[in-house]
This record gives sequence, structure tokens and C-alpha cells, in this order.
Amino acid sequence: MKAVVYTRYGPPDVLRWTDVETPVPKDNEVLVKVHAVSLNASDWEVLWGKPLYSRIGGPFRPRHHILGSDIAGRVQSAGRRATLFRPGEDVFADILSHMGGFAEYACVPESVLARMPAGMTYEEAAALPQAGAIALQGIRDKGQVQAGQKVLINGAGGGSGMYAVQLAKLDGAEVTGVDNSEKLAFMRSLGADQVIDYAREDFTKNGRAYDLILDLAGYRPALAYKGSLRPGGRYLYVGGSVATLLQVLLIGPLIGRSEGKKIRLLAVRLGTQHLAPLVELYQAGKITTVIDRRYRLREVPEALRYLGEGHAKGKVIVNVD
Ligand SMILES: NC(=O)c1ccc[n+]([C@@H]2O[C@H](COP(=O)([O-])OP(=O)(O)OC[C@H]3O[C@@H](n4cnc5c(N)ncnc54)[C@H](OP(=O)(O)O)[C@@H]3O)[C@@H](O)[C@H]2O)c1
Repeated sequence: MKAVVYTRYGPPDVLRWTDVETPVPKDNEVLVKVHAVSLNASDWEVLWGKPLYSRIGGPFRPRHHILGSDIAGRVQSAGRRATLFRPGEDVFADILSHMGGFAEYACVPESVLARMPAGMTYEEAAALPQAGAIALQGIRDKGQVQAGQKVLINGAGGGSGMYAVQLAKLDGAEVTGVDNSEKLAFMRSLGADQVIDYAREDFTKNGRAYDLILDLAGYRPALAYKGSLRPGGRYLYVGGSVATLLQVLLIGPLIGRSEGKKIRLLAVRLGTQHLAPLVELYQAGKITTVIDRRYRLREVPEALRYLGEGHAKGKVIVNVD
């Protein structure tokens, strides 16, 4: 099969469009003919091997040679113990833990696969899993946003931010979106009430405070967020620097305890059961996906560069056919 492969960390130039053996499903796996893959910041991070957490399982060389985690496609065959899906069924999944989506075929454990609902396109299905799960868990499960609360989403113009802004608005929050200057109008179009260009204003120094800060781009010392939280407010780190991550883990639980403030990591749970509420919201027309650009499989390096250099407003999709 055709695939986009890499064997060392680096810029998009290390990726090669080449022929590789079509994978054979293990007993618990399903072989999926990939039709669409959506890009996530995690692809860019694991391509570069930066931040350091992206090298888990591959400190010197990439553990997986094919990137791409949010896939949608059609079941081709299944391993001996994989009985949930039949050939010909349309499925989608986030396969972040083993990757392999930038290829014509991918093997996926059946436990993480979900059936595509009728009426959903491959592009729509590929856009949803990782970004949608981050948003849902960040705003609802862990963020526990209530109507009337003030929510700040740092990195709101990217893939997860796109869904997070919509969910927070749906739940009745007043939303501030922070991102680069190219994405201000986009964040407003999603429903953000206020927008901040991170190059011009530091939201931790403007005197405003929030009930929830969902941080998709956490690069500040953990203590910096305390003053931007209202009493009882919570800060959730999703991605960013390792220094911030370690501080959130080590001293986060101590910061602001007396005022009921919480500074925590959002470790996103993946899997079929976490996709169901997203699909319901999507089918009810309550959340929408904005696809900024589409690329072909052989154009994955350009697609990743576009995302990694910060131009993508919403999702970037690779069509494999
Ligand atoms: N915790 C978990 O379990 C988990 C699981 C999966 C993924 N993740 C992480 O989730 C994060 C977000 O993913 P995503 O796919 O939504 O990313 P994305 O589409 O790239 O969006 C991130 C946004 O943040 C912006 N940004 C960058 N630096 C910023 C700054 N200093 N201040 C404000 N905004 C800034 C980016 O714009 P520019 O860079 O263009 O300026 C981009 O618009 C990634 O770091 C990923 O590793 C975490």
C-alpha cells in the first residue's frame, strides 16, 4: 500500500511517500481501508519529537513510522477474535496510541472503533474524535461549565478549540478565545464573545478572571494562572510545554487551594464510549466542523506544515482516495 513514512524526528521533509507492506490485523484488530484522516497538533509534535512527552516509547527514534491518528474508513477484514465489525461497515476512531492513519490501510483494535452514523461523511467522521474528545471532556466532564460562567479557551482557533468554543456557548458560558491574529475572526464566528491575540495581550496579566481556563497551549509557569481564576475556578492543561506540564502535576494541587481553585492536567480518555455524546451533538446540529483545507495522502508533509505553522482555522483533512 501507499503510505507516508518517517524514521527519524524532524521537519516535514523527513516524511516519505512510499510503498510499504499492507498491515495484517492481529487477533483483536480490524483492517480499515482509510478514506479520510484529520490532522491534530499531536501529529506535528510526534513528527518533531517535541515537546519531550511526544517521545514516549521512542526516545531517540519514532516508535511508529506512520503518523495520523483520527481516521475514518471502511472495514476490510478482521482478526480471529474481532467480532464486532463486518467487512463493508464504515467506522472511525482516534488511534493516537499506535498511529498509522497516513496510509491506505490501518489496523485498529476493535475496542477503539466506532460505527459511523448514517449521513456522516468520512471527512466529518475523521474530524471529530481527538479534537471533539478534548473539547467534550475539557468543557463538560472535567470543566463542568455552568450557564453564566466565564470560560477562557487558550488556543481556541485550532481543532479542539473549534469544538470547545461551541460547547461552552451551548452550555451558556461567556467565552473568551485566545489565539494568533489570523484566527480572531474565526473564533468570533464560532461564537466567542471576546477574543485575544496572544501576541498582543497576556490574558494572565489583564486583570480578568474566569471560572474555567481550558489551556490547549500551556507555556506559562503554573502559578501564573492562579490570578486569572475566580474563587472555585479551575485551570485544565491539555497541551503545551513539558515545564508547564510538570509544574501542573507537581505543584498544581497546592496552588490556590484556600480559594477552592484547581490547577490540573486533562488526560483525555479515548475510546468508543467517549465518541457517542459527540456524535449525538453533531447529529442534532448542535456542533459543527469547519474544514479549513483538504489535502491528498501524498501531500501530508504540506498539510502538516500548514497546521504546524499555525495557519489552520478549524480542521485540516487528508483524503486518502
Ligand atoms: N492531554 C491529552 O490527553 C491530550 C491528548 C491529545 C492531544 N493533546 C494536546 O492538545 C493540544 C491541542 O491540540 P489541537 O489539535 O487542538 O491543536 P491545534 O489545532 O494546533 O490548536 C492549538 C492552537 O493553539 C494556538 N497557540 C499556539 N501557541 C499559543 C499560545 N502561546 N497562546 C495561545 N494559543 C496558542 C495555535 O496557533 P499557532 O501555533 O498557530 O499560533 C493553534 O491555533 C496539543 O498540544 C496536543 O498535544 C493532549
